[in-house]
Amino acid sequence: MKYYIGIDLGTSAVKLILTDEVGAIKQTVSKAYPLFQPQPHYSEQNPEDWWNAVCDSLAELTADIDKAEVSAIGVGGQMHGLVMLDKDDRVLRPAILWNDTRTGKQTDFLNNEIGKDTLQSRTGNIAFAGFTAPKLLWVKANEPDIFAACAKICLPKDYINYKLTGVFATDVSDASGTLYFDVEHRCWSKEMLELLSIGEAQLPAVFESAQVIGQTTLLGMHADVVAGAGDNAAAAIGTGTVNAGQCNISLGTSGTVFLPTEAYVKTENPALHSFCHANGKWHLMGCILSAASCNMWLNERILQSDYSIEPGAPNETLFFLPYLSGERCPHNDGDVRGAFLGLEHTTKREDLVLAVYEGVSFAIKDCIALCPDAIKTATVCGGGTKSKAWMQVLADVLGIELRVIENEGPALGGALLAAGISVKPQVQRTVTPNADAAALYEKKYQKFKQLYPLLRDFYRAED
Ligand code: XUL
Repeated sequence: MKYYIGIDLGTSAVKLILTDEVGAIKQTVSKAYPLFQPQPHYSEQNPEDWWNAVCDSLAELTADIDKAEVSAIGVGGQMHGLVMLDKDDRVLRPAILWNDTRTGKQTDFLNNEIGKDTLQSRTGNIAFAGFTAPKLLWVKANEPDIFAACAKICLPKDYINYKLTGVFATDVSDASGTLYFDVEHRCWSKEMLELLSIGEAQLPAVFESAQVIGQTTLLGMHADVVAGAGDNAAAAIGTGTVNAGQCNISLGTSGTVFLPTEAYVKTENPALHSFCHANGKWHLMGCILSAASCNMWLNERILQSDYSIEPGAPNETLFFLPYLSGERCPHNDGDVRGAFLGLEHTTKREDLVLAVYEGVSFAIKDCIALCPDAIKTATVCGGGTKSKAWMQVLADVLGIELRVIENEGPALGGALLAAGISVKPQVQRTVTPNADAAALYEKKYQKFKQLYPLLRDFYRAED
């Protein structure tokens, strides 16, 4: 028997799956770790917490099998996070995550002074607060001793791969989100490294996602470890989103719209990212910073119960703006914040839940509106798929058929990359839009679009 392990190093937890050689899922384990948001705009995690959770989860996942039968491991991970190690491989500071927006000044410097055209021609993308390059500029300006002591710079899943194998490596899909990687040519951008005052010797070697970077002997395994992928590219592999014309929507802590492309595409609207795919090709992607995390916020912090609703009629008057961490696509605005608008004496908690589903779906529609070709159908994966009511709202808001895949997309993608196979995705449910609700939501979306400029101006006027 041969087994494969896929690891999804997420923002709320690490999720692991064990598959056999045909990609059938045999076992899953998930372990949470803390997220630190010590002040507005900050979002950090301890790489050691990731590693401890991975080790504990691996032990649990393989408890009942012969560990020598684990053939290969593939890790997919939260993208853009900055992990800095000193010359003795000690973690220098907490990792600064993809949804950390402290780097407004550095992002503006890159986009306005270096210039969006220059950035796009060097890397394929413009700067967003969550990308890795502005974070390096922030550390250089605010923590010069840490910047000077830094011997290695890597992304979250690359830290795990380094701990597993001792090989300092990254893959093209994850490297794409650094803004110091040349997406078209699939290599580090020398001009960007110079601009950031870092050297290639500090960076991991670049691999394609399915390439073996080394082996791990952890827990008595003798398993190959592949380079892996950013979580969205891994989810695309897990959901079979590998050909142009397909679309995968992921509703995790973030929300993403993922479109494979045959070749590198210079985006007309650079709010859409242009990244390398894990299958040797490329993809476009829109990313909103808060998706299923909005429901989690409402349930855990506000309602303090796991409140769910049944599919029902759209709410015509209550709006939710999902900018709990600011927004990436399409607004590129780390300062804006979320809002409920239209509260009344009669507003009930189910109205709030529905408004959150709608608001996140409208934000996904904002990303889809930027896509070069019309999207007729999409797969959906991630924690948000657990709510039937939300999936109906999403189908109605987007006006397209959705194929819901409830498995752990990125973890399965990691296992498939490790096994070197592809499998037909297992679609649990197909959700078709309801014509009346879709017409109502089209009107409501036009109003939703008027709200961001109001919030933007309000937050800009504040300082
Ligand atoms: C993608 C992005 C998020 C994280 C979440 O650009 O920032 O989807 O990868 O894990």
